[in-house]
Amino acid sequence: MSPVDLSANTNAWGCPPAARAAVSRSFADSSGYPSRAADDLRHAVAERLGVTVSMVTTGCGSDDVLATAFRVLAQPGETLVAPFPTFAMVEPFALSAGLRFAGCAFGAGFSLDVDAITAKGAAVAYLCSPNNPTGTALEEAAVRRLLERFNGYTVLDEAYIDYGGRTSMSLVREHERLLVVRTFSKAFGLAGLRVGYAVGAPAVISRMEAARGPYKVGVAAERAAVAVLGGDGRRWVDDHILLARASRRLLQDELGNRGIAFVPSHANFVLVPVPDAASTASLLAGRGLTVRQFPDLPGLGDAVRITVGPEALMVAVAAALEEALA
Ligand SMILES: Cc1ncc(COP(=O)(O)O)c(C=O)c1O
Repeated sequence: MSPVDLSANTNAWGCPPAARAAVSRSFADSSGYPSRAADDLRHAVAERLGVTVSMVTTGCGSDDVLATAFRVLAQPGETLVAPFPTFAMVEPFALSAGLRFAGCAFGAGFSLDVDAITAKGAAVAYLCSPNNPTGTALEEAAVRRLLERFNGYTVLDEAYIDYGGRTSMSLVREHERLLVVRTFSKAFGLAGLRVGYAVGAPAVISRMEAARGPYKVGVAAERAAVAVLGGDGRRWVDDHILLARASRRLLQDELGNRGIAFVPSHANFVLVPVPDAASTASLLAGRGLTVRQFPDLPGLGDAVRITVGPEALMVAVAAALEEALA
């Protein structure tokens, strides 16, 4: 049996069929370039969110969008601050933009500690809600407090927002220094096609568009992303968000019933503190289950992160974890 990958927080139920059809149809047009700046996708996102097209930029995954944002929003030598632990690529993206990376502490229960962020004198603050790898979500009021007190730019990564937590998207209309970043790689099931986007003030978005350059979203990727924003594609996404939430509940219940502590999650993964992440991950790998291991996370110690998938798999992973921890 080939191993089941529960390590990358992608959609364990696969790709939306509407995207498959859009990709097949796009092949006939693939000898030409896509539009320079993914115009159809920008329009579709803007319409869906009720913002203007000038407030939307796209990229080759939200990785690309984040890396572009860090290059545009700060000068080399300035600092990017992020409550830590968070998405592992943030530090390398900051460093490759010539920035210093400063991790700061979360408040109690992984809440936002506004003082800890402002104390770093950073040009950019990166927040992630729900946060990878903890699965914890930020309160909108706390994000508001940060925006009022922090003079730099705030980049809020909502890669997992479809699974839980409250979006702060509406704040982009009031705060010109807020950029909200999202992806088609998780709930929308298109990680392999690489599409992400950001919503922010037109002045910031136009600088990001110029810095990123043209033709970053391919023809197939753009058509697929548009197809999953509405109609049958969106219905599939919504149905599978409900399945993922039910599976997350089941996984958390299964862990709780076995006496295994976990961090309650708002995302499509659950973080489980363990005494030795490497040995737990390798015992699970021996049972055909690949999970992501984290050595020595601040405030948590070692942990493994399990992507949520179909219910039978969640029962199997909880049982395997119980054996691994016995
Ligand atoms: C919080 C967060 N942001 C961004 C990304 C990047 O996703 P992508 O580049 O596939 O859009 C990930 C991927 O795991 C993530 O966990």
